[in-house]
Amino acid sequence: VPLQPHNSFGIVARAHALVRIANEADVAALLAHPRWHAAPKFVLGGGSNIVLTGDVKSLVLKIEIMGRRLVEETPRAWIVEVGAGETWHDTVRWTLDQGYLGLENMALIPGTVGGAPVQNIGAYGVELQDRFESLDAIDLDTGRSFTLDAAQCAFGYRDSVFKHVAAGGPNDFGLAGRALITRVRLRLPRPWKPVLGYLDLERKMAEAGNHAPGARQIFDWICAIRTAKLPDWRVLGNAGSFFKNPTVTPEQCADIIARDPKIVHYPMADGSIKLAAGWLIDACGWKGKTMGNAGVYEKQALVLVNRGGRSHPATGGEVMTLAKAIQTSVYERFGIRLEPEPVVV
Ligand code: EPU
Repeated sequence: VPLQPHNSFGIVARAHALVRIANEADVAALLAHPRWHAAPKFVLGGGSNIVLTGDVKSLVLKIEIMGRRLVEETPRAWIVEVGAGETWHDTVRWTLDQGYLGLENMALIPGTVGGAPVQNIGAYGVELQDRFESLDAIDLDTGRSFTLDAAQCAFGYRDSVFKHVAAGGPNDFGLAGRALITRVRLRLPRPWKPVLGYLDLERKMAEAGNHAPGARQIFDWICAIRTAKLPDWRVLGNAGSFFKNPTVTPEQCADIIARDPKIVHYPMADGSIKLAAGWLIDACGWKGKTMGNAGVYEKQALVLVNRGGRSHPATGGEVMTLAKAIQTSVYERFGIRLEPEPVVV
């Protein structure tokens, strides 16, 4: 089965088999099937945060579990339950149309609702964990259904229990490769409060002379900001930010500032300092560069792109070669190791 239509980079790779999952019963039937019972499985959502470096030998489960409904409304929150296969952005728009506010800062993030908790998606000051109630999943080893709350998901910056492999320790319950997320419940706090304060957003407010924007206005601004600086994967294949923004100690930061005074950095609540990986890569001269058919986007150095389109696409190997070259030059200049953000398959 060709996987090119199923990954936003547009990389060519094949899966030995792909099964579409529309509901919980499909999973039960699959796990009961003698042929598939023991086969390794790979859960695929929108394919917008993966780099395929070869054919996938596991059985690919393409999640197409749909449905969106309000499950609870109190003076303190709207709780909305969404099928894992729903498109994230369409879900953001749907909640706003229904008058359930609070997801607007996360507009236009590619991918599906089921993928959102895996890397704790976030943008413009709001992360999934800030709008999360619980999720339902199925253990692919045992077939058991289970529900996790936010604490059990162990959310971190672009991180969760779903990215970690259990090493067997007593408090170690990594679920990478084991959990199939079926439904996600989002908690949208009331009364609604705008999350502003991001430079790009402040600029939009100043331009519009609007200092008390509603959720719909913020949604429109976020869409405009993202469209201007992030490539549309349908036009230019990519997986969003390719590296996480690294954190350093204040001492390390002071050391870098002494050499590079213009470095973009943000103090964190825990005392560490977050650096803009895009700036580090840009400062090393990578913006707009190309190696093979993989390149660095000209408007945002943090985004690696497929310059070969659908007909002569970059290979996963070319993307990873470019990524390693970037890591090496950032390390040589700043002493910082950049960590890839998408899942390398
Ligand atoms: N910058 C440069 N050169 C560049 C790119 C960025 O100098 O080529 C500097 C600029 O000064 C800019 C700063 O870096 O102001 C930060 O850039 P930006 O505001 O675009 O945010 P980011 O840190 O690059 C993060 C997330 C994005 C998210 C935005 C907005 C990560 C890895 N990325 O990007 O998430 O949309 O903030 O909140 O945390 C993603 O995860 O796929 C993603 C797109």
